[in-house]
Amino acid sequence: MIRAIIFGATGYTGLELIRILSGHPDVCVIGGSSRTWANTKASEVLVYLPQDKDFPLVGIDELIQTREADLAFLALPHGDSASVARRLLEKGIKVIDLSADFRLKDLGTYESWYGNHKDPDLLASAVYGLPEIHRQEIKKAELVANPGCYPSTVVLGLAPIINLPEFETTCVIADSKSGISGAGRGAKLNTSFCEAGEGFKPYGVVGHRHIPEMEQELSLLAGRSVKVRFTPHLIPISRGMVSTIYVRTRSGVQPEMLRQAYRDFYRNEPFVRVLDGGVFPDTVKVRGSNFAHISFEIDARTDYGIIMVAIDNLVKGASGCAVQNMNIMFNLEETLALTGLSLFP
Ligand SMILES: NC(=O)c1ccc[n+]([C@@H]2O[C@H](COP(=O)([O-])OP(=O)(O)OC[C@H]3O[C@@H](n4cnc5c(N)ncnc54)[C@H](OP(=O)(O)O)[C@@H]3O)[C@@H](O)[C@H]2O)c1
Repeated sequence: MIRAIIFGATGYTGLELIRILSGHPDVCVIGGSSRTWANTKASEVLVYLPQDKDFPLVGIDELIQTREADLAFLALPHGDSASVARRLLEKGIKVIDLSADFRLKDLGTYESWYGNHKDPDLLASAVYGLPEIHRQEIKKAELVANPGCYPSTVVLGLAPIINLPEFETTCVIADSKSGISGAGRGAKLNTSFCEAGEGFKPYGVVGHRHIPEMEQELSLLAGRSVKVRFTPHLIPISRGMVSTIYVRTRSGVQPEMLRQAYRDFYRNEPFVRVLDGGVFPDTVKVRGSNFAHISFEIDARTDYGIIMVAIDNLVKGASGCAVQNMNIMFNLEETLALTGLSLFP
């Protein structure tokens, strides 16, 4: 039995980890951290948590002292994970960090987007945890940097075609929409009901912090520099995300050839579905599930390929992917606790 601890257990991704892990046959959560609910029990925050799945909530320093843990999930704001990870790794505890602290390989890039890094020496050993791209490295990793939700959609959407000569991928355009849970659980004016409950708005139009992560992974896949023109939007749903990606095509691309390329690339992937022609991804069809749904169209009139990807930001975009990474790191069946279908309708 893997004994897991969750830092930031009372935030949206922490709560989602508890939900998914409660159905995992080989994992037991033995502790969590929260400043607000320290010295209580998880069942006080999650009243429906069964007694046999309950665990204590403590402060961060106390949780680090947990002797028996095998694995720690860090569901903390970025900046806070970096000051915790080393202390866990030194105790032989594997770490899956859901924040952005270890996603970027290059320190200069990290610091130009996020400011000073609290433990830059760990960057080199962290593995970017998108299983469809880095499964072999994840198997051997002690520290996994779980991907951001937007980057997961954009990288999964473009990976099969980034090297095809029919596409011009020097600079791609990604237009993404996210449910409000993507902003975390803390109260903020711009995500409060009256401000966001019935509206639909772009934000971070120039310079969203997920851009360097997308560019790092796409450039690695392509073996050359790839830039992303990225515009995120907030939509009035609690969870779910769709990215619509525009790529220039060089010549008459045949949709059937393209569908085959996507199907071949994701042939053995348990959580990526390439949809049939004319079927478009929809957040309600992935809600609560670890699946990414991908489809595309070719617009021959304008010479654009349009790739559409939907995920649940809290599952494939965060905690589900983290559990998938855990399964890989601990040599378990990769799909354990993750095969539930979407909560539709
Ligand atoms: N939400 C998403 O869709 C999503 C997707 C992918 C990745 N992520 C990343 O995952 C991480 C967690 O996101 P989230 O949405 O779960 O955030 P959240 O809902 O705001 O939860 C944050 C958690 O960390 C604790 N916390 C907050 N500030 C802290 C601090 N300074 N020191 C220690 N603990 C602190 C909070 O509890 P207390 O305040 O009680 O301590 C809470 O348990 C973030 O880095 C986020 O970028 C989120």
